[in-house]
Amino acid sequence: MWIFGYGSLIWKVGFPYEERRVGFIDGWARRFWQDSTDHRGVPEAPGRVVTLVAEAGARTWGTAYRIAAPDRDRILERLDHRESGGYERHVVTVRDLDGPITDEALIYIGTAGNPNWGGPLPMDEIARVIARAEGPSGANIDYLMNLHASLTALDVQDEHVDELVELVRRLRYP
Ligand code: SIN
Repeated sequence: MWIFGYGSLIWKVGFPYEERRVGFIDGWARRFWQDSTDHRGVPEAPGRVVTLVAEAGARTWGTAYRIAAPDRDRILERLDHRESGGYERHVVTVRDLDGPITDEALIYIGTAGNPNWGGPLPMDEIARVIARAEGPSGANIDYLMNLHASLTALDVQDEHVDELVELVRRLRYP
């Protein structure tokens, strides 16, 4: 069984896996449109984390993990808990530039209308939230910077993430 990560699951895996592949899914765009009240914010001051939004022509790069059958139930139980802030399981096809990796990767997506759906806001407003939010898993800015660093390490450029990094840096170091 495969699991595809496009956010914190890229740099903070937290489960054993047998193989890790860099790949992409088509038709989805990575967006900081999910409120976080349990990891990078609190209910009174939510942070912002990524989810995926269906968008024709979009491509989202991330990492696919192949997990061993005996580990499946334990890993899914842990992930269901970790991603419980509005994310739901979906199944996607993951490819790399050489072809398909798997037609059945499990992925966690917070779709529009979920309890933590933050939706689109002007980018400078999202940046302001990220610059100050903090939750049980740490500072929101660290989530953004870790995502940016892990994408850079994979040689992946994501304009939405890059723009937020730039805006947050300007807020913190004007
Ligand atoms: C993921 O990483 O695939 C889901 C979103 C997150 O936990 O950041």
